[in-house]
Amino acid sequence: MPKIIVFHSFYHGVGRSNIAANVAYVLAKQGKSIGLIDADTKNPVQHHLFGLDNEDIQYTFNDYLWGNCTIEQTAHRLPLDSIPGKIFLTPGNTTQGHSPREVREVKDAELLNVGYQTLIDTFNFDALLIDTHPGVSEKALVSVTVADVLVIILRLNQSDYQGTGITVDIVRELSVPKVFLIVNEAPSNFDFDEIKSKMENIYQCEVAAILPHLDPIMALANCDIFAKRYPYHTVTDSLNKAAKLLTS
Ligand SMILES: Nc1ncnc2c1ncn2[C@@H]1O[C@H](COP(=O)(O)OP(=O)(O)O)[C@@H](O)[C@H]1O
Ligand SMILES: [Mg+2]
Repeated sequence: MPKIIVFHSFYHGVGRSNIAANVAYVLAKQGKSIGLIDADTKNPVQHHLFGLDNEDIQYTFNDYLWGNCTIEQTAHRLPLDSIPGKIFLTPGNTTQGHSPREVREVKDAELLNVGYQTLIDTFNFDALLIDTHPGVSEKALVSVTVADVLVIILRLNQSDYQGTGITVDIVRELSVPKVFLIVNEAPSNFDFDEIKSKMENIYQCEVAAILPHLDPIMALANCDIFAKRYPYHTVTDSLNKAAKLLTS
């Protein structure tokens, strides 16, 4: 099973954090032990998605980057009742709405490599999922370089196509072992099989899932996990299939 799965997108707001959180959840539901790192220290949402309050959080990924704690101290076991696996979340930062702590940008692949490997070894994770910064800046790409599997999330619009094209070209140079695409917020009346073959043809990467725009996802407002709330939904089936593919 691959160990480090990085979720990336060219733009902010494409659903990257929701998809990473849902994949973590469905893998834990399949019995896996999962680490999830919110490496997007500027716009961290994983702790909101999983319902952790700031008071529940002792140390974050930002603290680790500043050298204020060990990486193990950032891992918070999530209280997920009645599922066989587990998730340990490293929250990105707790600045939102509170006295802001300065965000440290990651530019050091070695710091990440050591941190990620230490977490995997300490907690014996089946997989470590990383929700990273958007774009192709140094701080975004440094996470990409440590990926065993990279998942690029895009929507069906011209800017995302171009951004994804740029990302895929860079990723090829970085020799990431496996690259998948996930298309998010596709209009439900589109032909998903046609989108899949078109995207695979353009980018020469396998499409792991095509997820429709769904009002119930939006209605959760980044405060809950779709697959947990809607276990029998067809979109949850798609997330399960994608999770299996990413970890196979
Ligand atoms: N398939 C979808 N259908 C409808 N709304 C979505 C979908 N995916 C994500 N969203 C919404 O889009 C917003 C951005 O999602 P988020 O996961 O925070 O994006 P990112 O991490 O890329 O910035 C959230 O409000 C979320 O509820
Ligand atoms: Mg996000």
